[in-house]
Parts: sequence; C-alpha cells; structure tokens
Amino acid sequence: MSDPSVPGRSCPLSYRTRAAAFAAGAATLQCDTLWIVGGLYGNVCALERVLNLYEAERGAKALVFNGDFHWFDVDAGDFAAIERGVSAHVATRGNVEAELARPAARAGCGCGYPDWVGDDTVERSNRIIERLRATAQADPEACRRLAALPMTALAEVGGERVGIVHGDADSLAGWGFSQEVLATHDGLRAAERAFEAAAVRVFASSHSCLPVMQGFSGSRALVNNGSAGMANFAQTRYGLATRISVAPSTGALYRLRAGALFVEAVAIDFDAHAWMRRFLAQWPAGSDAHASYFGRISQGPSYRITQALRPSAEDARVAA
Ligand SMILES: [Fe+2]
Repeated sequence: MSDPSVPGRSCPLSYRTRAAAFAAGAATLQCDTLWIVGGLYGNVCALERVLNLYEAERGAKALVFNGDFHWFDVDAGDFAAIERGVSAHVATRGNVEAELARPAARAGCGCGYPDWVGDDTVERSNRIIERLRATAQADPEACRRLAALPMTALAEVGGERVGIVHGDADSLAGWGFSQEVLATHDGLRAAERAFEAAAVRVFASSHSCLPVMQGFSGSRALVNNGSAGMANFAQTRYGLATRISVAPSTGALYRLRAGALFVEAVAIDFDAHAWMRRFLAQWPAGSDAHASYFGRISQGPSYRITQALRPSAEDARVAA
C-alpha cells in the first residue's frame, strides 16, 4: 500500500468533485461536435496539430482542454504558447494546473499516484512540478487564469449530456476512469454508479495517461483520451484526442455509439521529430522528465489499440 502522506500519492481535499453535481447542473456548452483534449503536457507541436484538425470541423462545435495542458513546458516561450492556445477555447483544470495556481500543502504534483506507479517516478514528478512552478510564477496573469478554471464541465452534444472531468467523477486526480481500474469488476460497477448519479450519456476523462473507451449498458460510454501530447500505443508517437459528435468523422482510430452520438478517438499526428527536439532542449538526458518520459515519447507505452476499445455486451450485439 502506498503512503498517502507522501507528496504525489494523495488527492488534496480541494480536488473532490461529486458525480451528482452533474445531474443537478445545466450544460454550459451546446454543440453538435465536441473535441476534448486532455494531457497535452506542454507539447506545443501537438497543440498546433489539435488546432488545425479542429479548425477543419464544420457546424456547431466546441473544443475543451480538460486539464494537464502544462507539464514539460518549463521554457517561458513554450509555456506562453500553451497558455495562448488553450485560453482561446474552453478549459478545465487538471492537477498540474491546480498545483501551479494554488500549490496545496504536500500534494507534490497532485497526481494521486496509485500503488502500481513506482516511488522514483513520483519523486521525479514532484521535482518536475517545482521547475514548472518557477516558470508559471513569472507569469502572474497566467496563474490567475489557471486558478479560476473549473474542475469539470457539462456539455450538451446533439441534445445528449456529456460530463467532462479530469480524473474521475469523484476527484480531479482520481484513477477510477483509468484503463487499469476499468479492467476490474469493482471498477466497472463504480463507474456505472457514477453514470447513474450524474445522469450523463458520456463521461470524458484523461489524467491516468493511457486511453480507454468503455461501453456501458443503456448505450452509454466512458472515454479517456490518454494523452494528446504523448504517444499512447506501442511503437507509435501520435497523441490522442476525443471527438464526440452527431456525425462520424472519417479519421477515427476507433469509436463507440452512445445514444445519438459517435464517440471517437482521433490521432493527433504532430511532428514527432520537432517535438523531440523541443522536449530535449528543456529536458535533456539525465533530467527528471527525460528519465520518466523519453522512452514513452520516442517508442510509446506497451499498450495496444485492441486493449483500449472495450465495447459493452450490448455494443457487441449491435455490431454483430
Ligand atoms: Fe492529471
């Protein structure tokens, strides 16, 4: 069992959210196509690609950055570029932004890392946030903007309710919507209870860094985009975003239906070489972020698309 008193292992009280708050709330966004981009992690090349892809969408649309858009961008120019791009659209807070804006005592990076993440990774993440905080504090206006971001958002896409979170329905840094937890019976039941409390058709999350698209009975879907700014699958380098729309796109890697909606994973195929140069300029070999992330950035994690797409029994019958 990990020690919750260790910085980076626990979730501060201020991170708590309630699934039932979605049921009581009114949607603040209405559109026919919604893009949700979690875990950009300061990748300015991925930001540029997201904005180009989104620009090509037709009709009533919205773009939400659902947290952790900063992380590797300790360079002031990159930090400002991320702020500029994100603040032109809708944004919700991730644990990274929460820790930049209002450092909680002993939260460290605020990731709320579970047991299966090693102590050395947690310690490196705590040092990364310290460096990033120094960059952020030189831009008080950005810090004020980040502090004002909401933790969740409720959208209506084609009249269907979509709950947007960073971690899970109960916490900004919760792992309940991670592929690991959703692979368990208890995890699936807990997510089902969150759907019932929230009265949403779709939950969209990020934070846990690996993608999953899980179908539930009643034509409901939970979609976690993994990371928009880092590779998500073995031997690949592209990021992923979530696209939820009344109409399918031509370029989805995989999708599920949820009521009237098409829930899709879209590749963010940024210039991987340009990004690696930019990453290495900020985090050279021997640095904390290099030790934790360069393997994944250059070769992807050991995870495959077939592991991410998890239709419900009902979805499988419809597809048959
Ligand atoms: Fe996060």
